[in-house]
Amino acid sequence: MIKLGVNIDHIATIRQARKGEIPSVVDAALICEKAGANSITVHLREDRRHIQDKDVYDLKKSIKTKLNLEMSATDDIIKIALNVKPAFVCIVPEKRQELTTEGGLDVKKNKKNLASCVEKLKKAGIVVNMFVEADIEQVLACSQIGADGVEIHTGKYAKFYKENGRNSLNFKEEFERILKASQEATKNKLLLNAGHGLDYDNIKHMCKVPNLKEFNIGFSIIAQGIFTGLRTAVKDMKELINKG
Ligand code: PXP
Repeated sequence: MIKLGVNIDHIATIRQARKGEIPSVVDAALICEKAGANSITVHLREDRRHIQDKDVYDLKKSIKTKLNLEMSATDDIIKIALNVKPAFVCIVPEKRQELTTEGGLDVKKNKKNLASCVEKLKKAGIVVNMFVEADIEQVLACSQIGADGVEIHTGKYAKFYKENGRNSLNFKEEFERILKASQEATKNKLLLNAGHGLDYDNIKHMCKVPNLKEFNIGFSIIAQGIFTGLRTAVKDMKELINKG
């Protein structure tokens, strides 16, 4: 069964609109867990636009499942991760101006820096995944730098699905790239996760990818939760994943 990590960054986006204390990210995390989330994901961005340092510490103390910290490979954030010791980190590229994480990491080009980051985090007992595009060479580079796993960026998959449909050439080609990158991950004994842009429509097709361990889904669940309540939004997504 593929697991579900729920990304609750946008609970903090709403809170930061007034810079107050509600809605509480810890309360949101506990509701997600009760509804079946297998882990809780947050992205501590360098500009702190949503999740704040205190959130990460509070979540680590309060949740019963596992904390997955998305982060850039910068010294300041690595220091925080080594302090918090989440179960997992996912190293992501970060640009100040982007609305969300737009692409995967270029692991091939930044092997030296990323290898040292992976080593520090693994030494602290943290499982380290790398957020990469569906690209065989990037997956192989993750294995070469000693990462534990990869999270395949499904942003293009989601975009092509929405804009052109499942029968379009660009969707089929992207899905083929995801299958090949996933095979490469399995061949190199890397954990295999996927995320970005996954929603209640496109999740079913994604479940066809063999050996997936976990999805990380944020925006669509939080958006759906506005209408159905967070518990139902998580439960509905879990059900779709379990049905495959
Ligand atoms: N995985 C990673 C590494 C991400 O950076 C994000 C976005 O923060 C997600 C998954 C979740 O994407 P979405 O919010 O589109 O579901």
